[in-house]
Amino acid sequence: MKEQLLQIRNQAMDSLDACQTVKELEDLRVKVLGKKGELTGILKQMGKLSAEERPVIGQLANEVRQELEGKIEECRAVLKERQLAAQLEAEQLDVTMPGRPFELGSMHPLSLVLEEIEEIFLGMGFDIAEGPEVEYDYYNFEALNLPKDHPARDTQDTFYITDNILLRTQTSPVQVRVMEKQKPPIRVISPGRVYRSDAVDATHSPVFHQIEGLIVDKGVTMANLKGTLEIFAKRLYGEDAKTRFRPHHFPFTEPSAEMDTQCFACGGKGCRLCKGEGWIELLGCGMVHPKVLKNCGIDPEVYSGFAFGMGLERVVMRRFGIDDLRLFFENDLRFLKQF
Ligand code: PHE
Repeated sequence: MKEQLLQIRNQAMDSLDACQTVKELEDLRVKVLGKKGELTGILKQMGKLSAEERPVIGQLANEVRQELEGKIEECRAVLKERQLAAQLEAEQLDVTMPGRPFELGSMHPLSLVLEEIEEIFLGMGFDIAEGPEVEYDYYNFEALNLPKDHPARDTQDTFYITDNILLRTQTSPVQVRVMEKQKPPIRVISPGRVYRSDAVDATHSPVFHQIEGLIVDKGVTMANLKGTLEIFAKRLYGEDAKTRFRPHHFPFTEPSAEMDTQCFACGGKGCRLCKGEGWIELLGCGMVHPKVLKNCGIDPEVYSGFAFGMGLERVVMRRFGIDDLRLFFENDLRFLKQF
């Protein structure tokens, strides 16, 4: 039995020296010293020994255990240190290495300015409403006081899908959809894509963006329209932005007007940007036509309202001095990265 013990000891000592990881070491400890381990196995047989042999073997077994435990702890310390060193080595960072370039995207100029315009109107208590781009003729024209034979239909070269369905040519149909669903007071803007069958050039695109605005309540007047839109122009172009209203015609508003802002490039003297006019057209507007209110189930004897609509591209082009509309839709990174 003594021999067995010494054999276990020697074998264990050899294996300990060969251990490469803390895990191997632990496995070995369990194999030799654990509850079902080799050494314990010997101790269990001690009952068979004579009274003289028992203390001798017992003592030897204890010595072997202590020796092995000591050695195991020693190995464990060494292995742990080695493991840490290896880990540090593996995780070493070369702080002098050049970084990987990080490509940060940027907002599209149309989104940038649209967000700014939305902020201005949200700040004035407007909500944002959206409507479909594939629209019924009724909403795009009929309900807006443009019956089938109305000559003004020809000025908006419409993409028809069927006789009754088309790609909306303006955001004004959203007015009708909002008024049908919501009773006054109404205060919404509605940005979105619109479509007209135009050939592509520097100032035309078959798809572009408009922002519509609508207020309906009791006692809304032309003075409210002017005040609201003048404040808008100042928020957009700065406190000294000057505006003027010119009479105009839209079938769905009466009276109608166009609002110009004084050219900020030349301060009104006339230049290339404003084509010598000193003024630049910003938006169309007017008091909502009583027929339109009636079409939407709102009593024009009780309520009145005003509406306006502007082209987003034009505002953005002026803001950044962009002279070709096509740049917005080509998605050339050299252009987009400038914003
Ligand atoms: N929908 C008109 C257009 O496309 C703009 C407009 C909107 C005018 C609302 C008046 C009121 O030209």
